[in-house]
Amino acid sequence: MAQEALIREIEAAVNRAPDVVELRLHLAELLATDGRYAEALTHCSTVLSQDAANRTALVLLQRCTAALAAPTDEKAPPPVEFDWRAAEEQVAEIIEPEFIEVEHAGAGISDADYDVVQRPDVRLADVAGMADVKRQLDLALLGPMRNPEVARAFNLSARGGLLLYGPPGCGKTFLARAVSGEIGASFYPVAISDVLDLWLGNSERALHNIFEAARRNAPCVLFFDEMDALGLRRSSLSNSSALRVVVNALLAELDSATSDNEGVYVIGATNMPWDIDPALRRPGRLDRMIFVSLPDAEARAEIVRLHLRDRPVTAIDLGSVVARTEGYSGADLAQVCATATQLAMADSVRTGQVRPVSMPDIDAGLAQTRPSAGPWFDVARNVIEFGNSDGSYDDLAKYLRRKKFR
Ligand SMILES: Nc1ncnc2c1ncn2[C@@H]1O[C@H](COP(=O)(O)OP(=O)(O)OP(=O)(O)O)[C@@H](O)[C@H]1O
Ligand SMILES: [Mg+2]
Repeated sequence: MAQEALIREIEAAVNRAPDVVELRLHLAELLATDGRYAEALTHCSTVLSQDAANRTALVLLQRCTAALAAPTDEKAPPPVEFDWRAAEEQVAEIIEPEFIEVEHAGAGISDADYDVVQRPDVRLADVAGMADVKRQLDLALLGPMRNPEVARAFNLSARGGLLLYGPPGCGKTFLARAVSGEIGASFYPVAISDVLDLWLGNSERALHNIFEAARRNAPCVLFFDEMDALGLRRSSLSNSSALRVVVNALLAELDSATSDNEGVYVIGATNMPWDIDPALRRPGRLDRMIFVSLPDAEARAEIVRLHLRDRPVTAIDLGSVVARTEGYSGADLAQVCATATQLAMADSVRTGQVRPVSMPDIDAGLAQTRPSAGPWFDVARNVIEFGNSDGSYDDLAKYLRRKKFR
């Protein structure tokens, strides 16, 4: 097996079993031998964060830091002769074969749809906070999906669609993936802006194919991201009639999805629900709106913890981070953690001494990352003031009132 491929295999195995120290060290060895010292170093420090006295990790760490600290014009030491066959035998028991057939609760992904349909392994438990959103999802979607007989008895159905809305970066896409992971359904994400051009040429057919693929892979969460791209209000006059065709085609498919498609669950997401054609929100279509808000204090702590997981960290004062990140979205927090990690890493490479991510790195990350959702709330406030006559945005209105009085 080529070295690249072997490294990729073992990387995948490490991702599947992040706590198996020997496997991670093996990967670090391979990376170092390949001259990829910085990556090797990261794995060494992960091992050391779990087992500070690990000899192999310490020796390898020294080798990597020495190589990285060496002046760049100096030639890297010649790679050590490596016995690939022996290495493969050594890991044969731990790495999984390149192609596997996994039994899932539902039907497998149809052959033709491998490039578009996914099997997410995230669950609702991986989504921090959002207790209220999860409750609503349970009531509207997950409960009926899990108990179709009971739902039928109550004349309730999981069919029809949900529309997740809220400020950017607060986990709408993440949540939709988690819903499908939660019930073992396949996940078919469609970014409306990406395919809009295609659709404008041949929209009914393209949309029909998308729904057909979802039906073939049922149970399937069909996820339409950026629903507002279909907003007729924002479109210029010149393409509004073409957009109308797309919207109509989508309406037709949604209607047929609610009448004769068992197991296709449509979830839409948008930052600007007020731009969406109201016809798309009529009963049986995307008729349930769920507001996904900024993470509260508890959720922020959890998001930071999740994003620093598997990285060497020390003495992070979560309470202080949480207190200083009111108004930050999940994506903003992810950015803070990424910046902090890069700083610690750069420092380690510069000094030749690995040091974990610590509070000053987080402080620097915070200084570089401004909360991004402010402008969204400015727009939302206007909409609530002038456009909530039918109560569509009651959750959002409640949230805005609560924030104002805190
Ligand atoms: N509640 C959360 N728990 C864990 N991670 C989160 C959470 N919310 C956001 N994140 C992190 O922020 C990233 C961005 O979230 P996501 O892409 O789902 O936001 P979004 O609401 O779909 O944003 P956009 O409106 O810009 O599409 C996620 O990949 C995840 O890493
Ligand atoms: Mg998104």
